[in-house]
Amino acid sequence: MAATSTLTQPTPGSHSTKDHSTSSQERVGGEYLEVRILRQDGPGEPSYWERHQIPREADMNVISVLQRVAAQAQAADGRTVPPVVWDCNCLEEVCGACTMVINGQVRQACSALVDKLLTDNPGEIELRPMSKFPVIRDLMVDRGRLFHGLKRVQAWVPVDGYYDAGAPAKISPASQETAYPLSECMSCGCCLEACPQYGKIEVSPRAGETTAEYEHRKAAAYDQGFVGPHAISQAVLFNSHPTGKMIEGDRWDSLMAEGGLQICGLAQNCVAVCPKSIPLTESIAKAGRALTVHAIKRIFDR
Ligand code: SF4
Ligand code: SF4
Ligand code: FES
Repeated sequence: MAATSTLTQPTPGSHSTKDHSTSSQERVGGEYLEVRILRQDGPGEPSYWERHQIPREADMNVISVLQRVAAQAQAADGRTVPPVVWDCNCLEEVCGACTMVINGQVRQACSALVDKLLTDNPGEIELRPMSKFPVIRDLMVDRGRLFHGLKRVQAWVPVDGYYDAGAPAKISPASQETAYPLSECMSCGCCLEACPQYGKIEVSPRAGETTAEYEHRKAAAYDQGFVGPHAISQAVLFNSHPTGKMIEGDRWDSLMAEGGLQICGLAQNCVAVCPKSIPLTESIAKAGRALTVHAIKRIFDR
């Protein structure tokens, strides 16, 4: 790969003579990559920027960059620093665990390719944790509220036992085609990071509080906030399932409650950033129509 003006030689004295890169990878022209990371030592701690320089290799993604940064454990100014912490699992954009803000765009680190990043944004790679979730450490955030949103809308097919319940209801090909894209959600949080209506909620343990009390207080705080487009879309998905439909009314009730669908301002940021191209605004529109019908039914049910 040709050298670009974005790449620098190491700052004199900033690196030990030890080569921390893996020898199996091809070094790109002896060049170094500038990485700027927004770090945080723990929940509630102040954040700070830290620069790193790592040898550039062919075909790197942001996860391999972070692996080099962690192995080197040395900032660009030569200080020995604790390894940067981040989260990942599948390494193929399926689990959503590695979601972070890369050069200002929320996305998965495992599918963010260095060559492409440097073409689009010469100079450096900037990494920040998502801003809508509490930071656990560095780039690793607590996405618990995202999963709490799925619990609020009961994003599952309810089963009340493991006995043979007979043949399941058939789902038409047309329904499958509508449902499949919604089922691709990997709970990554990109849509929540982009949504102007989804604010950060950070609840810290209090002195003398039991774990159960803390979790209860946290869940109550989460219940007051916006449930999020991912959960609205999953409510639509599970309400389209023949068995999932059994608790359709409960799901619509949860979207009519505090922090429900009414909070959505239809800014459509969510759909623009979803890495799985899930038609979130279509789901929001469907849920809106269904809630109108549901609200009228509730009046006659009284
Ligand atoms: S359409 Fe609704 S859920 Fe999506 S970003 Fe806008 S306010 Fe958030
Ligand atoms: S809807 Fe898209 S952006 Fe939102 S959590 Fe699911 S996969 Fe991620
Ligand atoms: S590690 Fe699973 S999406 Fe990146």
